[in-house]
Amino acid sequence: MRKKVSIVGAGNVGATTAHWIAAKELADVVLVDVVEGIPQGKALDLLEAMPIAKNDVTVTGANGYEATANSDIVVITAGIPRKPGMSRDDLLNTNFKIMSDVVSKVVAQSPESILIIVSNPLDAMAQAAFRQSGFNRERVIGMAGVLDSARFRAFIAADLNVSVENVTAFVLGGHGDTMVPLPRYSTVAGIPITELIAPARLAELVQRTRDGGAEIVKYLKSGSAYYAPSAAVTEMAEAILKDKKKILPCAAYLQGEYGIEGYFIGVPCKLGSAGLEQIVEIKLTPEEDAMLKKSAAAVKDLCSVIGV
Ligand code: LAC
Repeated sequence: MRKKVSIVGAGNVGATTAHWIAAKELADVVLVDVVEGIPQGKALDLLEAMPIAKNDVTVTGANGYEATANSDIVVITAGIPRKPGMSRDDLLNTNFKIMSDVVSKVVAQSPESILIIVSNPLDAMAQAAFRQSGFNRERVIGMAGVLDSARFRAFIAADLNVSVENVTAFVLGGHGDTMVPLPRYSTVAGIPITELIAPARLAELVQRTRDGGAEIVKYLKSGSAYYAPSAAVTEMAEAILKDKKKILPCAAYLQGEYGIEGYFIGVPCKLGSAGLEQIVEIKLTPEEDAMLKKSAAAVKDLCSVIGV
């Protein structure tokens, strides 16, 4: 039987995630949105592309949650995006209300599903979804690190004029201004980038990575990034659906790992059919550790505002 992925929110991130998942023939897709006609129209359009893509998956759009029943994965993108000048944190209260409502409906239909949370502010929204769902931490995972490290990789590859395939990069911490890119664990064909890029230039690439979301918002004005975010969700979903045991940076609920207890923060995670199968602990320098703790403190502040 084919796998089933439901995506809540048929805006740019949700619809583009549907596109990548259908294009890779990973699963049947259900697109849900409150706006009448939009999920149905986008889903039908994508379904009609499948003969050309040669992919046997169904794509369905709905305004209600019945169609999402028994999903293997539910991707939650619902919420308002940023406008220029706004930080991800400015979305907190509005998106918390939306998240709480969505999660209760999702869980009622798919009590065994794995949730991938995408709405911002990411780490706090993942925490809200975790609390509301009552799921164990293996089944609630936030998407941020794959996106942030993809941005870092794209900038490194362009700077060195090498294939993106040669570049691996690690970005930990929260999905916000306090994210923690780790040049020490970032490589080009196995060579640490600290050997290849001068410190001042590297600092510029790190800063551009931190500001990566805002750079796109500034161009688009009326919305935020969606191609790279949805590609990142798809990589996580694929790792789960195919039980790949792939290590990816994701937001996970920490229970003492990295000295952090009771909050979502971006760390290296092994993803497989059970969802979050392992948190990989790497040794951080005191400076990196301090940055991660600062990032966790920022997440904690947001969580206390919404009481999760
Ligand atoms: C970004 C938004 C989606 O980083 O958080 O582009």
